[in-house]
Amino acid sequence: MIINVKKKSDCYEYEVTDQSVYLNRRQFIQTSSIAALALGSSSVLTAKEIGNDLSIPNSLSVSFNNILETPYGQSEKVAPFDVASTYNNFYEFGYGKGDPAKKAALLKTDPWNIVVEGEADVIGTFALEDIIKENQLEERIYRLRCVEAWSMVIPWVGVSLATVLKKFKPNSKAKYVYFETLYDPEQMPGQRGGNIEWPYREGLRIDEAMNELAFLAVGMYGSVLPNQNGAPIRLVVPWKYGFKSIKSIVKIRFVEEMPDTTWNMLAPQEYGFYANVNPGVDHPRWTQKQERRLPGGILFPNVIDTQMFNGYQDEVADLYSGMSLVKNY
Ligand code: MTE
Repeated sequence: MIINVKKKSDCYEYEVTDQSVYLNRRQFIQTSSIAALALGSSSVLTAKEIGNDLSIPNSLSVSFNNILETPYGQSEKVAPFDVASTYNNFYEFGYGKGDPAKKAALLKTDPWNIVVEGEADVIGTFALEDIIKENQLEERIYRLRCVEAWSMVIPWVGVSLATVLKKFKPNSKAKYVYFETLYDPEQMPGQRGGNIEWPYREGLRIDEAMNELAFLAVGMYGSVLPNQNGAPIRLVVPWKYGFKSIKSIVKIRFVEEMPDTTWNMLAPQEYGFYANVNPGVDHPRWTQKQERRLPGGILFPNVIDTQMFNGYQDEVADLYSGMSLVKNY
């Protein structure tokens, strides 16, 4: 998604080679519910405690239990963890697909606060744990379709976005929800330059945000989110192109007007606010009719047809009835 540089869909399986690293991440102690999380410094695995071994292979040691299984994606072929955690877009850590896995390891994700503001009755600064503690963690296996025309199937762990947002009691002026990623150039080297206006920002119409599919992930593959995948909390909006699924969220704002969003600000003719997966509307520089389902390779690119709303029509098509999805791309 770099503007007018190489076509980013030109990425191949041989790029999926980087080691995965899971240092300094929030330790979700094995417990029957997230409400029982132990907080404070003793619950944080520091790089030193783990041994600062950047070659830890695909560690999934910090896992949840008692995750509610859901019917979503049960028949899907899930991507291997080491693909999903080493082939990433997280421009705060560089533009290369392997950069986030290499550079996000030491992002400090505990403590983590989220500011809630705008058109809602309950606003303020909340610890991440307080925001999601009453929710049962669910696993949802979703297809993630990047606008760059690759896709993966990922088993997320998290909570429904709607149930979280409702706790803040948005008022009748809350027509959209805006999200912001952490801005911290010291920890996020990509924020020291580039053409993105930091922090990364995204938004949804309120009815989209309240849709059953919209999800806040705190984990994947049964364990806490690797930093490169957006720890400690990220959005997952499976019927939209991946850039809507903002990572490492620190701000939620309920607003009346459609908010500015990162890719739309950067190249409005290429990236719309809605960004619904749509094989009928090509990106100006490449087709969206097909996608490369990862893992694949040069010999087996694993190209499949892209589905309208990424295959989630039944759940979301109603949100857009009467709207032109060509105009509102
Ligand atoms: N969120 C932030 N803060 N920064 C980013 O660069 N990239 C987006 C999205 N969320 C991005 C982000 C894009 S383009 C995609 S495709 C998905 O994250 C990729 O998620 P993944 O790396 O977990 O597969």
